[in-house]
Amino acid sequence: MPPTTEPDQSLLRVHDLRVAFDTPAGTVQAVDGVSFTVEAGRTLGLVGESGSGKSVTSLAVMGLHRRARVSGSITLAGQELLGLTDRRFGRLRGRRMAMVFQDPLSALHPAYTVGEQIAEAHRHHFGSGRRVARRRAVEMLGEVGIPEPGRRAGEYAHQFSGGMRQRAMIAMALSCEPELLVADEPTTALDVTVQAQILELIARLQQDRGLGVLMITHDLGVVARVAHEVLVMYGGRGAEQAPVDELFHSPAHPYTRGLLDSLPRLDDPDDAPLRAIPGSPPSPAEPRAGCPFEPRCPRAAAATVPERARCAGESPRPRGVPGGGRLVACHLPLPAAPHPGPSGGAPVPAEEAR
Ligand SMILES: Nc1ncnc2c1ncn2[C@@H]1O[C@H](COP(=O)(O)OP(=O)(O)O)[C@@H](O)[C@H]1O
Ligand code: SF4
Ligand SMILES: [Mg+2]
Repeated sequence: MPPTTEPDQSLLRVHDLRVAFDTPAGTVQAVDGVSFTVEAGRTLGLVGESGSGKSVTSLAVMGLHRRARVSGSITLAGQELLGLTDRRFGRLRGRRMAMVFQDPLSALHPAYTVGEQIAEAHRHHFGSGRRVARRRAVEMLGEVGIPEPGRRAGEYAHQFSGGMRQRAMIAMALSCEPELLVADEPTTALDVTVQAQILELIARLQQDRGLGVLMITHDLGVVARVAHEVLVMYGGRGAEQAPVDELFHSPAHPYTRGLLDSLPRLDDPDDAPLRAIPGSPPSPAEPRAGCPFEPRCPRAAAATVPERARCAGESPRPRGVPGGGRLVACHLPLPAAPHPGPSGGAPVPAEEAR
């Protein structure tokens, strides 16, 4: 996204974020110039194959990189977060921005009851007394759909099922009423029914509270359900950013197209082989001069020699394409054309699915 000189009204604005790790084997450029915004009351879905830099991006937003080189700009309601001291970041984290991730067991302490942990977050950020904080913890557990919250507050994380633990982590994240929720693969470890319940829960809490949500997932089905906008990441960079229905209806980046083509379709025969994008994602330890998708890109393979040379030699910058508010980092974006989608012809009903 281009730099802006306007005063920034966005809840979260990430501009030209770069995150590099210095390792014994050399520099790993895990995120390489990513830009996006999350508005209050909206969900941005961040998608891409494993290793595309989604988690590294989310940890940068939360100020949780200790040994990485982070540059660019991350603002929360106009306040620059990069460069804040740990102490000042600590006051924001939990209070104004909170995170849930795939494995609640690593977030919930085994030696304290679930209720004590939620209450402690409240005491820490609001200075509330024990009884008020405890009451708030029970209320929050009730709000996220945990039955008998008064009793369950006195239990330990290992006494909760996977779905209940995820609910408890969401309760903990939201107990201080943050403005931004960063959710990194929050439903990946759950079965589909529980997954749907957790996504509904986040959507309901978002509506009730006007939360901005950054939803990170490798699962396009999750994105279709919950996101308003989508940023597709590839090789640590933004490939395509678009409103969700535009992205599913008519992908403009060949990588997005490949991801959509990989989705199982309703008209597939039962024994149809799974489709996948041939080849593997780039290694962030081996930077390339041109487009990171070039070795796997069917559009480049079918292009003219000069076009192919450009793909191989010049890194595409995100730019607008005709027809809607999208940005595409591709020298040869696909022309607008309806994608058959997983329903095998009908466009994906993103509005309905949400
Ligand atoms: N602490 C680290 N040190 C070195 N490389 C890392 C570190 N954390 C992540 N990476 C690398 O950065 C890339 C992006 O990782 P990640 O953001 O976790 O991907 P994903 O999109 O699957 O969440 C991967 O190649 C990963 O190996
Ligand atoms: S820039 Fe070239 S290689 Fe990269 S996605 Fe576009 S067509 Fe493919
Ligand atoms: Mg990840």
